[in-house]
Amino acid sequence: MADTGAKVSARIIDGKAVGAALRKGLKARVAALAEAGAAPGLAVILVGDDAASGVYVRNKIHACESVGIRSVTHRLPASTTTAELVALIQRLNADRGVHGVLVQLPLPKHIDMRLVLEAIDADKDVDGFHLYNVGGLVLGDTAYPPCTPFGVVKLLEHEGIKIEGQNVVVVGASNIVGKPMALMLMARDATVAICHAKTRDLAQFTILADILVVAAGRPNLILPQMVKTGAVVIDVGINRLPDGRLVGDVDFEGVSQKASYITPVPGGVGPMTVTMLLENTVTSAERALRNDNKAPKLAT
Ligand code: GUN
Repeated sequence: MADTGAKVSARIIDGKAVGAALRKGLKARVAALAEAGAAPGLAVILVGDDAASGVYVRNKIHACESVGIRSVTHRLPASTTTAELVALIQRLNADRGVHGVLVQLPLPKHIDMRLVLEAIDADKDVDGFHLYNVGGLVLGDTAYPPCTPFGVVKLLEHEGIKIEGQNVVVVGASNIVGKPMALMLMARDATVAICHAKTRDLAQFTILADILVVAAGRPNLILPQMVKTGAVVIDVGINRLPDGRLVGDVDFEGVSQKASYITPVPGGVGPMTVTMLLENTVTSAERALRNDNKAPKLAT
């Protein structure tokens, strides 16, 4: 890349390093579970042959191995029916060695995604997509915050960035990132605005943000003139350009000269998403162990 001579003033948030630090703590929790005779297990279901989903699932499996979580991947053909998928989920729900059940999205169009997500036992819903856990999120109290926004909150906390009372603008209103992100920041007393594809004059919102979270899936959507000097900019976008480069939704070169903090793509939010999946799986195993300990012992 040509050297533009541009001065980078933002602190670059290293999601890989923060994720690695958090994984150390998770390893210790897995070791404590092992002492108690419990081993966390994650079941990952991949339907069809979407290339990007295949990569994400492989990353999740490797990450599990890195902290000692046992994982089992179920690869199903694109022709799988909703009923077949639900039947597999029900088997995994009943399996005491499985603490997390994750269905990789998107699913093939003929599958009823809501039926599938609602079939997952809410206690094993480590993605946090089941209605029960979404409800918990709305009330500010869920066992399993969705992994990507959870990772963003952990990054902000790790960097010591204040959330309370800050103006936050979230660009993107998806069920997986934008909506839960807004709820989690509201629960931490931020003032939150959500923008989306139909927002008129996006810049008039983004310019007000102390913390700008962008999850729109459009390269170069956020330009320097749309960002307040000193803002914290979190780029959740992952876009593959025609030349093969992986970029976020933010003009990194330009915006990093205006922001106080910025996340790179890759190496920002991505590694945190996977780490929070591990966190939720370990939490689920800990909850299962506590419930086992509370359950009345059967007379023999
Ligand atoms: N597809 C894109 N992001 C996610 C995620 O966080 N969880 C699942 N299950 N699928 C996804």
